[in-house]
Amino acid sequence: MTHVQDPKPPSGDETWQDEFDLASQLTPRQVVEELDKYIVGQLDAKKAVAVALRNRWRRRQVAADLRDEIAPKNIIMMGPTGVGKTEIARRLARLAGAPFLKIEASKFTEVGYVGRDVESMIRDLTEISVNMVKEEERDLVIEKAAAIAEDKVLDLLLPPPPKPAPRTEGDGEPVIITDDPETQAESYKRTREKFRVWLREGKFDQTEVEIKVPDRSSMPMLEVFSGGMEDMEINLKDMFGNMFPKKTKKKKVFVPEALDILEDEEADKLIDMEDVVDLALDRVEQAGIVFLDEIDKIGAGDKGHGPDVSREGVQRDLLPIVEGSNVSTKYGMVRTDHILFIAAGAFNVSKPSDLIPELQGRFPIRVELQSLTREDFVRILTEPRNALVKQYQAMMETEGLELVFPPEGIDEIARIAFEVNGKMENIGARRLHTIMERVLEEISFDAPNMKKKRVVIDAAFVRQRLEDIVKDQDLSKYIL
Ligand SMILES: Nc1ncnc2c1ncn2[C@@H]1O[C@H](COP(=O)(O)OP(=O)(O)OP(=O)(O)O)[C@@H](O)[C@H]1O
Ligand SMILES: [Mg+2]
Repeated sequence: MTHVQDPKPPSGDETWQDEFDLASQLTPRQVVEELDKYIVGQLDAKKAVAVALRNRWRRRQVAADLRDEIAPKNIIMMGPTGVGKTEIARRLARLAGAPFLKIEASKFTEVGYVGRDVESMIRDLTEISVNMVKEEERDLVIEKAAAIAEDKVLDLLLPPPPKPAPRTEGDGEPVIITDDPETQAESYKRTREKFRVWLREGKFDQTEVEIKVPDRSSMPMLEVFSGGMEDMEINLKDMFGNMFPKKTKKKKVFVPEALDILEDEEADKLIDMEDVVDLALDRVEQAGIVFLDEIDKIGAGDKGHGPDVSREGVQRDLLPIVEGSNVSTKYGMVRTDHILFIAAGAFNVSKPSDLIPELQGRFPIRVELQSLTREDFVRILTEPRNALVKQYQAMMETEGLELVFPPEGIDEIARIAFEVNGKMENIGARRLHTIMERVLEEISFDAPNMKKKRVVIDAAFVRQRLEDIVKDQDLSKYIL
């Protein structure tokens, strides 16, 4: 880790760079390669987000005066349900190492209505950033905190002998001589080190000790009803948190838990929260990414049902945030100018052109995701790191059962999934989940009692499990 803690990092934009530079240094090609490990096809969408990520890094290399002028190019991903929109965003988040928030646009309501106002996403993103930076800072101090926690637990397990008298600082030499204090101190020290070894070996894992923990029950219970008032709630909590001195109570816990609790406590003490907040605010402003899912649901397209009144209002509320404005959070003001917005939607009823023009204009990059083909299904079943087939195999392995999927079996599953998608609703790759579940239902149920330790899921097996259901339209509606 290249993070500089002491001496203080230079002020300004430099501070937030070090930690996640690595991620954004990935070239667009590398980002696509990483995404390829989890998502089949959809190259256009992958390229678009890869470029957007790279642009964050490029912007930071530009001279300061121009840098502030460069706004992120927000993206709209369009495509039918279940073809990988959310999955791309989720994986990108891992890669980016930047504060990342995914939220459904349909969750928001216009300011003044009951519900979440759009500004709350910036507050949430800031919270994520703070936690992220805090976690990083924690990593830097955790060893030290663990060492202190260990000593504290040792103090509990083996209380130090009463100090005979004032000692001179540092060397531990007693001034007043009692009955051979030197050996007493020494033998204590020796025992303590023996205890330390035992502690590390887990010999005290079943031992209980009494430690002080924050007493939550003494905190005044506050319930703030209704949405849109999260801020109020937060402020109240902060206020009361400071008003009442932190109460603690004694609690008996096993040694491992005590170590954890004390380690957390010490780590918190070692972290300078002001620094954390400074870094986090900088990072959220310069590198934050918001993924606005279901953006089509706030379009005007399917008028008639739902809380229509506030939809256009939500779009209007979004404008200033996407374009750049100040949002007040409990950590301070956050400028949203350089936050990247990626919106996604199926747009089957509405179209991007159903969004109000001002909002459309703020998402200049459009990428379309493709419907998945039968061949895609075959690959999705087997290729991704987290492919369904691998998941089922791993799950059954825990029962000592080997699942074998010959290509013909996979083909058959893909074929049927594709067919059912065509005949009924097209739910994309999600269909594979329902089909697989059905194919393996019985095995899954019987696995612990099965004598056979190897099951081959060939085409005949798949057909036999699914044939009747696929033939019967009504039945498939319920089951697949
Ligand atoms: N191209 C793909 N490659 C691999 N897995 C995929 C692909 N598309 C979808 N999946 C899988 O299908 C499931 C649903 O995908 P995802 O959540 O990305 O859908 P979506 O496009 O966001 O749909 P919606 O519009 O309904 O939100 C996930 O489990 C995902 O892993
Ligand atoms: Mg989705």
